[in-house]
Amino acid sequence: MVRRKVTIVGAGNVGSSVAHLLALKELADVVMLDVAEGVAKGKALDMYHSSPIEGFSTGVTGTGDYEDSAGSQVGVICAGSPRKPGMTREDLLRVNASIVASVAEKFAENSPDAVIIVVTNPLDAMAYVAMRASGFSRRRVMGMAGVLDSARLRSFIALELGVSPADVEAMVLGSHGDSMVPLISRANVKGIPITSLLPGEKIDTLVERTRNAGAEVLSLLKTGSAYYAPASSVVEMVEAVLQDQKKILPCSIYLQGEYGIRGCFLGVPVKLGSGGVEEVLEIDLTREEKKLLMSSAAASKKLIESLD
Ligand code: NAI
Ligand code: 2OP
Repeated sequence: MVRRKVTIVGAGNVGSSVAHLLALKELADVVMLDVAEGVAKGKALDMYHSSPIEGFSTGVTGTGDYEDSAGSQVGVICAGSPRKPGMTREDLLRVNASIVASVAEKFAENSPDAVIIVVTNPLDAMAYVAMRASGFSRRRVMGMAGVLDSARLRSFIALELGVSPADVEAMVLGSHGDSMVPLISRANVKGIPITSLLPGEKIDTLVERTRNAGAEVLSLLKTGSAYYAPASSVVEMVEAVLQDQKKILPCSIYLQGEYGIRGCFLGVPVKLGSGGVEEVLEIDLTREEKKLLMSSAAASKKLIESLD
């Protein structure tokens, strides 16, 4: 049997955390690729040394050469510069666009049938850059943000109510930025709407904390941004693709008329399986949510236009 392969480009905090989780779950052979080749190789070797203890038999290797990524089913792009204190995600636009374009092009040449998951910020614009540079269809290029933003909201609701985070369902759509769209009208704990469990002002506070969660972690870490929850979020998406789970997850995808939006990447609920984005789900939104989604779209388009 041919082993499945996942390549992670950028073996920094997010990339190596993704690699570690994938190895622990034995989901695929993992290749970490980085311009800092020694870092990729060193982290991979260190991780592989844990295999007898953790009991995984999939491979973990590091490289600086795209030939080693050939035949991957999934490519995760985490290469770039992390957000630094005082820096907005948009500040990263120019630096990371040229990195993501060259990474996506080289990865796609070596793995023409893969699904690409982009992590690098500013997320929605970088997913667009990766789609253009790879030449892949919109079904096979997506950005990770909604799973993370939703997990942050779910965890804040769980903390507030003192319930298991696994029992909290909530989705955040839109762009990975200040105009993200938390779907409060649908958030619930085991089917009980949170609007009946928490007062409106408390929900507003949790939403605000979710919007600022990335910045909150950044301001504590000082030298880099979040990576544990981002890595778990990426792995949920990788697993859905590798195992053809048909999972419904909020992913940043290129919209072509869905939700009345066209020509930009934005987080919406999709069905994720081995073909990548297998279906885009158009759900009813409240007037306020629609308004927020439109301003998310405007923000995402503005970044793309400034790139073009
Ligand atoms: P990091 O600085 O720890 O890692 C970045 C890695 O990319 C470094 O190892 C660097 O050597 C490598 N790299 C740079 N240029 C490269 C190239 N041309 N080819 C291959 N590798 C290259 O950063 P971290 O914390 O891992 O974050 C990575 C990116 O993910 C950042 O842009 C960050 O803002 C973003 N991010 C996005 C999230 C999301 O929700 N979408 C969540 C967390 C981080
Ligand atoms: C985050 O939300 C930096 O986008 C990254 O943590």
